[in-house]
Amino acid sequence: MKRIKFIAGNWKLWGTLSQAKDLAKALAPALSKAPYRYLVAPPYTALAAVKEVLQGTKVLLGAQDCSALESGARTGEVSVLMLKELGVDAIILGHSERRQFHGETDQLVNEKIKLALKHGFEVIYCNGETLAEREAGQAAAVVVRQTKEALKDISEADLSKVTIAYEPVWAIGTGKTATPRDANEIHAVIRKTIADIYSKQAADAMIIQYGGSVKPDNVRELMAMPDIDGALVGGASLKSETFLPICLFDQ
Ligand code: 13P
Repeated sequence: MKRIKFIAGNWKLWGTLSQAKDLAKALAPALSKAPYRYLVAPPYTALAAVKEVLQGTKVLLGAQDCSALESGARTGEVSVLMLKELGVDAIILGHSERRQFHGETDQLVNEKIKLALKHGFEVIYCNGETLAEREAGQAAAVVVRQTKEALKDISEADLSKVTIAYEPVWAIGTGKTATPRDANEIHAVIRKTIADIYSKQAADAMIIQYGGSVKPDNVRELMAMPDIDGALVGGASLKSETFLPICLFDQ
């Protein structure tokens, strides 16, 4: 089964409204002609403006999180209903920074994924082990557990709207990348987990992105691995000079 590569930029807590608009303007024309699927996830405050820039292009708009509730007394949170009206296509959920700094658990991530799918969003679901877990030989076991928890009660039909991003925590923003071989090994474990929970067909179709210090000079060898189907890029997605070469890695 031929899986189409999917490359996404997670802008995290970077980019004021004007900076985000400028970056989107620099990316949109080049990505419209590029061969794969692309997404950018600016901060909430820039979603509407970036949507306008992306109008008529094939670049998808992503949000970096959402509330587990549609509405209610949750000061500071943003609901799927609000994201829907802004024309957001996909929501990144379960990012390790949400887990580390906001105490998100696998169970909460599962609730958010179900809510996002119910409202018709695509989801980029992130998982990955910490350095201590890797050093203890637990990397595979951790991602299997996270994946099973996150996908609990999600139907195979809905699964087609989910992309999984394997992001080893120790490789995020550190300049340390998993070797393509190490990353591919965990991707294969994730794909096998999908086969175990769902079916071989679902596993073959699953897009599994790698995230963690993806740069123009390492993207090509990562994308050459059989189970790596794209990238979720942080730091290098903040400048067109570094994000475009990643998106156009084989052009
Ligand atoms: P870096 O590319 O900056 O390591 O970040 C990866 C990431 O967390 C993307 O979600």
